[in-house]
Amino acid sequence: MPITVEDVSFSYTRNTQLGSIVLDRVSMNINQGEFLVIMGEIGSGKSTLVKHFNGLLKPLSGKVTVDGYNATSVQVRKLVGMLFQFPQQQLFGRTVFEDVAFAPSNFGISGKELLTKVIESLKLVGLDENIVSKSPFSLSNGHMRLVALAGIIAASPKYLVLDEPSTGLDPKSRNELFKALREIHATGITVVVVTHNIHHVLPLATRVFFMERGKIAFEGSPEDYFLSGYSQVQDIPLLMRELRKSGLDVNDDVFTVEEAFREIMHIKKMRTGT
Ligand SMILES: Nc1ncnc2c1ncn2[C@@H]1O[C@H](COP(=O)(O)OP(=O)(O)OP(=O)(O)O)[C@@H](O)[C@H]1O
Ligand SMILES: [Mg+2]
Repeated sequence: MPITVEDVSFSYTRNTQLGSIVLDRVSMNINQGEFLVIMGEIGSGKSTLVKHFNGLLKPLSGKVTVDGYNATSVQVRKLVGMLFQFPQQQLFGRTVFEDVAFAPSNFGISGKELLTKVIESLKLVGLDENIVSKSPFSLSNGHMRLVALAGIIAASPKYLVLDEPSTGLDPKSRNELFKALREIHATGITVVVVTHNIHHVLPLATRVFFMERGKIAFEGSPEDYFLSGYSQVQDIPLLMRELRKSGLDVNDDVFTVEEAFREIMHIKKMRTGT
């Protein structure tokens, strides 16, 4: 199991007084190649949970491992790339090149190989290589976020974890970001994303988790998620339009969860033959 979370509890106050437990005996596994979506209520512990995947937080009890290493061990830092809610705060370079080159140069890559790595990473997230000499702070909000993402990808992580990556973006930038995630996942990187915008990632999602008060309240396929009481997508027509835009041939003249479910299952059947 590439990422395993075993019976993890966590409290910011490092004690187990009533009310201070933020993660309450959470267990989950993330398999290689998955595109995992974590949803949940505000304050339910989503950010706290994903910060355990690269050792930013340490469990009060229980264990998190990545490829067999304890998540707090140094090897895991290279394996797991993490993008936060306001990745602009992760930018610092005078130029886009400096920013994206930072991690690979720390891993000993230099010269032409470094330039190639930077350009490849920018292309993968959908940015033009011509922006390398620009200041990242002169770019639009959406492009700044893509530069931060390129910087993480340039370090060649095996796992990419994103915590509400589309917060505060306009619809166009949001689409660009989720398109970048599709491309990144297609290269074989395992993706874990905390997001409320499930309709953007539905065609890719392998599993959906829904958190409630520090526990995993639901875990299952996207189809089951829509049939569960946890589904928060009220706007089914919007969902169907997004699915069409992402290239799935669904009927977007659909207004109920049941109809949407049938459409999605139909597409799944055509794709997988099962
Ligand atoms: N640094 C901190 N110190 C103390 N308590 C914190 C800290 N960060 C989060 N908490 C508390 O831990 C609980 C879980 O927070 P967390 O940020 O993990 O939730 P979340 O599901 O990511 O919420 P949101 O949807 O708002 O992003 C909340 O009650 C929050 O107030
Ligand atoms: Mg959060």
